[in-house]
Amino acid sequence: MVDMIKPAGLVFDRNLALELVRVTEAAALAASHWMGLGKKNEADGAAVEAMRLAFDTVQISGTVVIGEGEMDEAPMLFIGEKVGYGGPPMDIAVDPLEGTTLTAKGGPNAMAVVALAEHGNFLHAPDIYMEKIAVGGGLPEDVVNLDSTVHANLHSLAQAKRCAVSDLVACILDRDRHKELIAKTREAGARIMLISDGDVAGVLATSQPASGVDIYMGSGGAPEGVLSAAALRCIGGQMQGRLMYEDETQVKRALEMGVTDPNKIYTVSEMAKGDVMFAATGVTEGAMLRGVRRFGHGAITHSVVMRSKSGTVRYIEAHHNFGTKTWVKS
Ligand code: FBP
Repeated sequence: MVDMIKPAGLVFDRNLALELVRVTEAAALAASHWMGLGKKNEADGAAVEAMRLAFDTVQISGTVVIGEGEMDEAPMLFIGEKVGYGGPPMDIAVDPLEGTTLTAKGGPNAMAVVALAEHGNFLHAPDIYMEKIAVGGGLPEDVVNLDSTVHANLHSLAQAKRCAVSDLVACILDRDRHKELIAKTREAGARIMLISDGDVAGVLATSQPASGVDIYMGSGGAPEGVLSAAALRCIGGQMQGRLMYEDETQVKRALEMGVTDPNKIYTVSEMAKGDVMFAATGVTEGAMLRGVRRFGHGAITHSVVMRSKSGTVRYIEAHHNFGTKTWVKS
């Protein structure tokens, strides 16, 4: 009765947010078959195929703007691909399996991720690196900045959190390119959580007090940066991202995709504007999401769905029956 007097758009938004979870659940279930089997491409392929199929039932006219790559290199969910059953035009950012190596090794924090916004609201980031810095919500604006030194950022954050730098935990991808960043962080006195992969989870950890992570720093995929920004739009938190280029071809590609200033530092709402919806389902165990737990003829998934409009963050545990889900390899 109450819904009858609500604007149709509001009801539609709500349903759509929940439909998105089905899409990430499908990808996570398919990928989970490959967990720990040492086959990251197979895990990724299964997630992509399942996600693509699941999108066919979602009532949108979607265009993939962050996806699996260009049309000639990705058979499905490529940039520009149209997905959805039909409905309002929407831009879609996907990472059907964020953490392919994590899945292949059974490591933590692999997940299937989707974000959705009205046309033109996501930064069209090419598949290159992005320099990132992120902190949780409730802190003064610009408490950290990509142009500041590691030392200055950590001291500013400690002051804002009324703690010592040595109380802070920085999450950083364990990469040779981060040697200097790691050294400077230790020099400043902060503690470090090194992760082997999965910087979407790393960024999101800053917005979850239970994770114990205060700041995320370092470079990772630009598409993952946009997806992280989409989630932060919903749960709060600050992030800055700056595209990094290995050569002129990458600069040209970014310009072709609509980037106007290649050296611009993007804030969360410049990477994901307007009303944003975000959904993720855990593939392997993680700080935010439990991994897929498979049994006899089914599995349990753990997902999160969020909307920037309402700020609601909903965790969903779903019990799936493989007997009725033909796209899942049992
Ligand atoms: P994949 O799922 O594509 O393997 O990405 C995992 C990841 O760790 C991302 O979370 C991160 O943004 C990126 O790889 C970092 O790239 P690299 O492994 O080249 O340092």
